[in-house]
Amino acid sequence: MPKKKIFSKIPVYPMSVIIVGADVENKPNFLTVVWFSMVNFEPPTIAAVLNKGHYTNKGIRENKTFSINVPSTELLAVTDYCSVVSGFDHDKSKLFDISYGELKNAPMIQECPLTAECRVVQTMQFATHELFIGEIVATYAEDNILTREHPDIKKIKPILYSMYDNYYWELGKKLAHAMHVGKRFEQHN
Ligand SMILES: Cc1cc2nc3c(=O)[nH]c(=O)nc-3n(C[C@H](O)[C@H](O)[C@H](O)COP(=O)(O)O)c2cc1C
Repeated sequence: MPKKKIFSKIPVYPMSVIIVGADVENKPNFLTVVWFSMVNFEPPTIAAVLNKGHYTNKGIRENKTFSINVPSTELLAVTDYCSVVSGFDHDKSKLFDISYGELKNAPMIQECPLTAECRVVQTMQFATHELFIGEIVATYAEDNILTREHPDIKKIKPILYSMYDNYYWELGKKLAHAMHVGKRFEQHN
C-alpha cells in the first residue's frame, strides 16, 4: 500500500513505560519516561532521554547515578502522577517505598517488580533533551515475575504507551518464538 508523509515524525509505536529515579538535593525524585533504550550488552548499558528542563536531571548530573523502575499496570495511576507533577514544586519522595543498592544514591521503587541502578558513563546534549547513558550496576526483580530466573513479560504486566493518542495500553498475546519463526519463513521461500 502506498504511504503518505505524515505530521508526526515519531515512528516508534508502542513505547514501554518506566519510571526513572534520582536523588535530587538528597531526596528521591521520579519521572515517567518512555524515551529509553538498551545501548550496550556487555557491560550492560541503558540510556534515558530527558528534557533539559526536568527536575530529575539536576540530581542525575550531580550524583552521576539514576535508577530504572518498571511499573506493572497496577501502578498506572501513580506512574502517570510522576509525569503530571514536577519535583520543582511537588515532593515526589513519599510516593513509594524506596530502596538503595550498591550505588547508595540511585533510589529504586520497591513497588515496581523490576528495578535497576545505573552509573552515568556518558551524557549527550541535544537541542531540547539530554541523553543519560548509564552502565547498569545491578538489576533486581521480585521472585514472582521470574520464569527460570528471567523477568517474564507476562508476569511483569508492563504499561505501554501510544504517543499519538496519549493513552496507556497493556500487553497483547504472544505471537511467535524470535529467531525461529524467521527460520521457517526462510525454508519456504
Ligand atoms: C507517558 C509519558 C512518558 C513520558 N516520557 C518522557 C521521557 O521519555 N522523557 C522526558 O523528558 N519526559 C517524559 N515525560 C514527561 C515527564 O514525565 C514529566 O514532565 C515529569 O513531570 C518531569 O518530572 P520532574 O520535573 O520531577 O523531573 C513523559 C510523560 C508521560 C505522560
